[in-house]
Amino acid sequence: MIKLNIRLICKRCISSASFPRLNGIDLIKERIADKVSKFCDIEPNEITKSIDLTNNLDKGDLIIPLPKILKDKKCDLKATAKEWCENIKRDDYISNVTASGPFIQFEINPKFLFQELVPNILSLGGNYGSLPLGNDKTALIEFSSPNIAKPFHAGHLRSTIIGGFLSNLYQKFGWNVVRMNYLGDWGKQFGILAVGYQKYGDENKLLKNPINHLFEIYVRINKDIENEKRDFGESELDKRAKKFFRDLEDGQKDAIELWTKFRNLSIEKYTETYKRLNIYYDVYSGESQVAKDAIEKVHLNLINKSLIQDSNGAQIIDLTESEKALGKVVIKKSDGTSLYITRDVAAAIERKETYHFDRMIYVVASQQDLHLKQLFEILRLLDYEWTDSLVHVNFGMVQGMSTRKGTVVFLDNILEEAKNQMLTVMSKSDHKFAQIENPEYVADLIGISAVMIQDMQGKRINNYSFNWERILSFEGDTGPYLQYAHSRLKSIEDKNSNINITDLSAINFSLIKEPEAITLMRLLSRYPEVLKKCIETHEPSTVVTYLFKVAHQVSTCYRKLWVSGQDEDTAMARLALYAASRQVLHNGMTILGITPVDRM
Ligand SMILES: *[C@@H]1O[C@H](CO)[C@@H](O)[C@H](O)[C@H]1NC(C)=O
Ligand SMILES: *[C@@H]1O[C@H](CO)[C@@H](O)[C@H](O)[C@H]1NC(C)=O
Ligand SMILES: *[C@@H]1O[C@H](CO)[C@@H](O)[C@H](O)[C@H]1NC(C)=O
Ligand SMILES: *[C@@H]1O[C@H](CO)[C@@H](O)[C@H](O)[C@H]1NC(C)=O
Ligand SMILES: *[C@@H]1O[C@H](CO)[C@@H](O)[C@H](O)[C@H]1NC(C)=O
Ligand SMILES: *[C@@H]1O[C@H](CO)[C@@H](O)[C@H](O)[C@H]1NC(C)=O
Repeated sequence: MIKLNIRLICKRCISSASFPRLNGIDLIKERIADKVSKFCDIEPNEITKSIDLTNNLDKGDLIIPLPKILKDKKCDLKATAKEWCENIKRDDYISNVTASGPFIQFEINPKFLFQELVPNILSLGGNYGSLPLGNDKTALIEFSSPNIAKPFHAGHLRSTIIGGFLSNLYQKFGWNVVRMNYLGDWGKQFGILAVGYQKYGDENKLLKNPINHLFEIYVRINKDIENEKRDFGESELDKRAKKFFRDLEDGQKDAIELWTKFRNLSIEKYTETYKRLNIYYDVYSGESQVAKDAIEKVHLNLINKSLIQDSNGAQIIDLTESEKALGKVVIKKSDGTSLYITRDVAAAIERKETYHFDRMIYVVASQQDLHLKQLFEILRLLDYEWTDSLVHVNFGMVQGMSTRKGTVVFLDNILEEAKNQMLTVMSKSDHKFAQIENPEYVADLIGISAVMIQDMQGKRINNYSFNWERILSFEGDTGPYLQYAHSRLKSIEDKNSNINITDLSAINFSLIKEPEAITLMRLLSRYPEVLKKCIETHEPSTVVTYLFKVAHQVSTCYRKLWVSGQDEDTAMARLALYAASRQVLHNGMTILGITPVDRM
């Protein structure tokens, strides 16, 4: 057996963005570049950068498009491809090189995939896929951002799920991540809520479930206000509400105390619910937290830069000169109420000053596309050079999300419904159900993964309609199926716990020759590349699609590559292959925010 060794091979790390010890694909790319550089006077570094993954494993693993590296040279690219191909030596890393038009295709040697990559994955464990590309830069990610006392609609759900994923991803890539929840925690609705609480409030209910109780009150008192207006033409309650909010803005002690209580208790409850989704926040910020004088300063700056115009008594910023579609932004209405945009500008500036972020990501529905474009443009016009580091990660809408009892109001309702529906599905399979130690806990995790996978499965910009039956199915590409794939791998490890694969150097991988297993390993080698792509596109669907490919290939392997009943050497090699596969599924699910279950 030829002893390959990732640790010794990296003689020089060609590019600072190449991590051959962490990413087998980087190692192969460096080797290819080394070979190819012998045929042309191009820096290996340049060649490495131009090597792409193939879209389809039928076309090999990696590809060099000659038009890309020989773009300035006048030669017959097809003939060159053919000539190089014949001269590139096959070795323990590259088993086949073929020309296809002006492209050169490379196949990774299975010897490398088994002898090097399997041990590499198993020794990196939970860190397989992580690459230190972020270099300690800071990313501030704003996501979820519900309004206190208002329903947690599907848009918040998507923002929560996508934002949670992005936070994990950035962290895995060596960024410092500031997870921020920017609550809707200021405004007239707090006056209404306070008046409602005086009338309908119940301390016990508030402590038990502040979010539901406050919402209940909000709905009731709004109805009262409507009735008063209908019957008397004006509303005493509404006047009191306005007064309360004025008191709040003036910092009046009692008002602030009540508001703080609502806000604090709501945050406590949110924290509990987010925990079920493996999400925590570094900062619960919100509209209330943007300092008044910071907003005033922005306003003065806008005036100083002559950006504000008067339009029938309202104040506007005309952005059409920057780009026609950006239109004119109203910042103060003729009645003097100021709109959100100035506050958002001030918030962005405060965050830059506080967190010194290198990138700030807003995970906000695509209905806000225009608003965010306007926000970014105003910051640019104010000469903040960091405007280029702002990113809007947008997403489409969810239709028809409801529970059996009616409409969904809060995140909690969605998660409870997912759990209950999953319990129903599970209890239909009696004998399996009886074997599960903690069915409620397992149902909760699987139900949540069903909701999450459905959400992250398509391109985020697309709308989708919510369908409990489809997402809870164990067939097709669903969350439960992915959990099943993981737990099945775990049970193979458990059933064969007598086989010790701790000493990986003792495993004879030449015993695995099946093309199904080679395909599986070729897929596993791509995991770090999949994440790399995601951090460019901010598309969770890239990870989801990849994990299903792995799960399907594992399932294909089961039919042929058994562990039980094999001689010990074969069993060991196969078990290591399955352990590596489970590790990749585990890592991928975890980064999505899903807790993989071991038994179901
Ligand atoms: C190399 O790849 C080509 C094209 O896919 C294939 O026809 C050929 O059989 C392969 N050769 C080896 C030795 O695997
Ligand atoms: C609200 O929370 C803050 C920080 O957690 C704490 O300092 C404050 O005492 C709390 N206030 C109330 C009224 O619970
Ligand atoms: C307007 O901006 C200029 C240049 O930054 C500054 O010198 C001046 O003090 C500003 N004026 C006001 C009123 O803020
Ligand atoms: C999503 O639905 C909204 C509202 O129905 C529609 O305006 C939008 O074009 C849809 N988006 C896509 C990508 O289909
Ligand atoms: C497995 O093997 C390793 C090293 O070969 C040894 O340290 C460990 O104790 C073994 N584990 C079991 C459960 O036998
Ligand atoms: C590994 O397996 C191959 C294929 O069966 C066999 O030829 C070789 O001798 C084995 N190597 C060791 C070190 O056992």
